[in-house]
Amino acid sequence: MSHNPHLPQALYDYLVAHNPPADPLIEDLVEETAAMGNIRSMQVGVEQAAFLGFMVRLLSARFVVEVGTFTGLSGLAMARALPEGGRLLCCDVSEEYTSVARRYWKRAGVADRIDLRIAPAVETLRALPDDRSVDMAFVDADKENYPLYYEELVRRLDPSGVIIADNLFMNGGVVDPEPPPAALAMTDFALRLQADPRTETVIIPIGDGFSITRLADG
Ligand SMILES: C[S@@+](CC[C@H](N)C(=O)[O-])C[C@H]1O[C@@H](n2cnc3c(N)ncnc32)[C@H](O)[C@@H]1O
Repeated sequence: MSHNPHLPQALYDYLVAHNPPADPLIEDLVEETAAMGNIRSMQVGVEQAAFLGFMVRLLSARFVVEVGTFTGLSGLAMARALPEGGRLLCCDVSEEYTSVARRYWKRAGVADRIDLRIAPAVETLRALPDDRSVDMAFVDADKENYPLYYEELVRRLDPSGVIIADNLFMNGGVVDPEPPPAALAMTDFALRLQADPRTETVIIPIGDGFSITRLADG
């Protein structure tokens, strides 16, 4: 099904084979997204989806925010992991991509715990209550705006909460001698995370690289 540009295929297959198994619903979603052409690469890997679900359970997260939903795999994994009464807020600008997500969420029986807002994510985030109610956030949208999303999320993060962002490696572009603009933006973001005294961040090499941020005094 998926692959990972940073791992030899055999090792990636081994990783997936020894992780929680993907069910037919996930396999169908990956296959349908693959049929959409090059944009398929926007989808998180199945191992990243499994990790996100794991984190929701680990944190007992009740309110999760996703920035960048696409066809819904990461949202599906996180929504499935929510406890009774838990909510997932999904932000995206595309009715077209998220119409696929909606179908799969319905099939999975989790549509009623997901609020999908079609608008620039920064608007949706700024409209959230100014309290520390976000237990977990996953950022996977336009790279140049990661710092904006981060600021809106940090100020709303529960003391035990976590912000995860994707594509810290930008497919290797961050170490390219002539990095493309989105890779430069990502390196700026990584430096910002590293220097932020309010938070502690680690970057882990799963998929295209996740940053995981918690409040320093959390
Ligand atoms: C990398 S994809 C997300 C992949 C998704 N997490 C998954 O598991 O398949 C990025 C998504 O961000 C959305 N996006 C781009 N710019 C945005 C913005 N300013 N606000 C909200 N969503 C945006 C795109 O429409 C696209 O669906």
